[in-house]
Amino acid sequence: MSGRLDGKVALITGAARGQGEAEARRFVAEGAKVVITDVRDDPGEQLAAELGAAACYQRLDVTREADWDAAVAVAVNLFDKLDILVNNAGIGAFGTLEGLDLKTHHEIIDINLHGVYLGMRAAKAALVATGNGAIINISSIDGIVGVLGMTSYAGSKFAVTGMTRSAAIELGPLGVRVNSIHPGVINSPMVQEAPPETRARLDRLMDMQPIKRMGEPHEIASLALFLASDEASYITGAQFVIDGGHLAGPWREHFDE
Ligand SMILES: NC(=O)c1ccc[n+]([C@@H]2O[C@H](COP(=O)([O-])OP(=O)(O)OC[C@H]3O[C@@H](n4cnc5c(N)ncnc54)[C@H](O)[C@@H]3O)[C@@H](O)[C@H]2O)c1
Repeated sequence: MSGRLDGKVALITGAARGQGEAEARRFVAEGAKVVITDVRDDPGEQLAAELGAAACYQRLDVTREADWDAAVAVAVNLFDKLDILVNNAGIGAFGTLEGLDLKTHHEIIDINLHGVYLGMRAAKAALVATGNGAIINISSIDGIVGVLGMTSYAGSKFAVTGMTRSAAIELGPLGVRVNSIHPGVINSPMVQEAPPETRARLDRLMDMQPIKRMGEPHEIASLALFLASDEASYITGAQFVIDGGHLAGPWREHFDE
């Protein structure tokens, strides 16, 4: 049976759990070889072992340039090349401008913004070498509209949108497509581990959108799969919202004629 990513090699960051894990599973199921990377070594190694010879685990803290070089080298040395980079790793935190401590602000920017930049920079040569590369940067709906109490996070995710478009212009002529995915609220450990008051707020939010539930990681993986595959051969510099209609427009409970 042929897969939609047959013969391709992917590197996914933050792939030990959540959306990155779902993407790793889906990519392997569709014929890709996958370098699973994260800073959570145990679940990352377990996932790679479960997926077998088509996967391996490599520790990669996306804020560290040396880690990036090593991870790209693993893809090229073990699987011969690198076709797909998914910049998925990310963190978030709530807080007002003066309430969020500066250390957390810098961590968010370091991981969500610098991590994506360093990844595209480190993988560029290998992706260009294939002549048919794809980068998928995971932003957020918070990279399209502002959100109360998440100024740092939204700032980092807006930056991902801008970096995606700029890199698409640089890399398009070199055969590499660059697109961003903008999930709404997704039922991953990031959300599952949120404090009860945040969960309650998210539940209320879900009730106010056209599809009244959180998205599931496998639904994001489906979109990432499409963008990674040759089916998306004419798509670059574009942003893809996947949010149950959250950003579609103001919600109304009833509309009586
Ligand atoms: N869950 C949501 O509602 C939601 C919504 C929109 C966007 N996103 C984005 O989707 C992406 C995936 O998030 P998720 O929901 O799967 O969250 P998650 O917390 O379940 O998974 C994120 C992964 O990133 C890893 N990570 C954290 N810091 C890292 C670092 N310095 N280097 C490498 N890996 C690191 C974590 O170990 C974790 O495995 C993130 O970029 C997040 O901002 C999530």
